[in-house]
Amino acid sequence: MKLAVISDIHSNLHALTVVLEEIEKRKVESIFALGDLVGYNAFPSEVVDIMLKREIASIMGNHDIVCCGLENPIWFNTAAREASLWTRKVLSDESKRFLSGLPNEMMVRERLYAVHGSPQSRDDYLMDLMDALNNFRHLPDKTINICLYGHTHIPAIFSEHGPSHDSIHSGKHMLDVRTRYFINPGSVGQPRDGDPRASFGILDTEEVSIEIIRVEYDIQAAMQAVVKAGLPQFLADRLQVGA
Ligand SMILES: [Fe+2]
Repeated sequence: MKLAVISDIHSNLHALTVVLEEIEKRKVESIFALGDLVGYNAFPSEVVDIMLKREIASIMGNHDIVCCGLENPIWFNTAAREASLWTRKVLSDESKRFLSGLPNEMMVRERLYAVHGSPQSRDDYLMDLMDALNNFRHLPDKTINICLYGHTHIPAIFSEHGPSHDSIHSGKHMLDVRTRYFINPGSVGQPRDGDPRASFGILDTEEVSIEIIRVEYDIQAAMQAVVKAGLPQFLADRLQVGA
């Protein structure tokens, strides 16, 4: 069974469209999102519409909870706060209802768990092996082999025993069923690993592998839309460099 894992779309319609086209070619059984559907970029309503129409299951990210009005952007930097308040203004009530109903975490399949930041909090940044090792004990169930997470916007694989990769950019990695993993598929809509291409993952439960895939998209169009919407220039510029 192949499962496509997407995360941190952040209202980037141009990136999401190309990622979904690429996923289409790869004959996956389902698509799952790790949160932060909205925030930062210019197309929150369009992204939510796609998630609704395609019935893509998602968990709630730290931007989703702020943009739907359940929390205030107290801990956000200036650009993130500005974008979240703009997003609140343009989102329909129906989109806000959808976002406010997203679950905090989810068992995707048997032994496959998903969170936004870490098992402890959607706001935690799981950045390195030490963070991962400290978090295995917070998984809710001992049978969980893989915990998918997002939030850092950096694709990574951390293994409890065996090789780990704190920034893997792209490529297929075979997994060992005897150990446990934290796996981040990177960000669709605002990559931060120095590679501006959209990032997502395909988990193959028969082969027991994860492939990180990068796709080119129309970054210039996404940047122009950010500026046209009156969002901070910084949010456009970072798309170009993937940081
Ligand atoms: Fe994010």
